[in-house]
Amino acid sequence: MKTILLTGACTGIGSAIYNKLKQKKAYRFVVLGRKKPEGMPFVETENEWFIPVDLADVEQTEQKLRLVREHPGFGEIDIIINNAGQGYFSKIEDIETEMWLKIINLNLTATYATIKTFLPNMKRQNYGRIINISSDADHTGFPDGGAYCASKFGVLGLSEAVRKEIIGQNITITVISPGRVDTCFNGKKPGDRPLSLKPEDVAQQVEHVLALRDNCNVETIRLKSTLE
Ligand SMILES: NC(=O)c1ccc[n+]([C@@H]2O[C@H](COP(=O)([O-])OP(=O)(O)OC[C@H]3O[C@@H](n4cnc5c(N)ncnc54)[C@H](OP(=O)(O)O)[C@@H]3O)[C@@H](O)[C@H]2O)c1
Repeated sequence: MKTILLTGACTGIGSAIYNKLKQKKAYRFVVLGRKKPEGMPFVETENEWFIPVDLADVEQTEQKLRLVREHPGFGEIDIIINNAGQGYFSKIEDIETEMWLKIINLNLTATYATIKTFLPNMKRQNYGRIINISSDADHTGFPDGGAYCASKFGVLGLSEAVRKEIIGQNITITVISPGRVDTCFNGKKPGDRPLSLKPEDVAQQVEHVLALRDNCNVETIRLKSTLE
């Protein structure tokens, strides 16, 4: 049974990924986030462990990741799905430095921290799958998107660089870059954006990536609704 570390699974895309992969009964889950996903037990079981953490807090995140790495049952993470993220849209001169750092830390530094913590184990076991949920903002800048675009361009750059450090070790990194998805993102509610992608569309791509044979990777997926 492979062990998945998934971030931010209480709503939206992360919740859809958790629900889709749980159905397969082939994975154990370590979920990191501020809130537990619906249906996940409150207490650690053999196959599920929820760890409350504010992923915008770098020190707290690194401490919780060390806790996972040192756990005798859950420590050997096979698959990382970096999903937790937040939007923030404002003109560059109006962004408070504190907010800039929060967005960069949550969307980018937490991704760096999960990869850095578990890559050595993936190398030892000659197996690893890393999926980073990014955004179309990782390759297109737009007004008011300074912090968000910087964080997501960073995710894409980090993924491309690390991919070249791990050639030949059966470790893959996939960046999924969706357009708008109908979730709680940016203060919206599910149903507010009926023309947009559904969180399940993104979860389906994750399932597809995890089904690929060894030594075969889809490096980037740009997923868009055809209705907007
Ligand atoms: N929806 C879109 O249009 C869209 C488009 C492209 C990419 N994305 C990306 O998709 C990912 C998921 O977003 P979503 O659309 O599913 O939005 P969402 O419904 O708001 O989900 C975001 C998830 O991240 C968690 N999270 C946020 N801040 C956190 C923090 N400081 N510490 C720990 N967990 C935190 C949330 O948990 P809490 O409730 O506890 O905060 C939630 O589980 C994000 O990386 C986002 O950038 C979204």
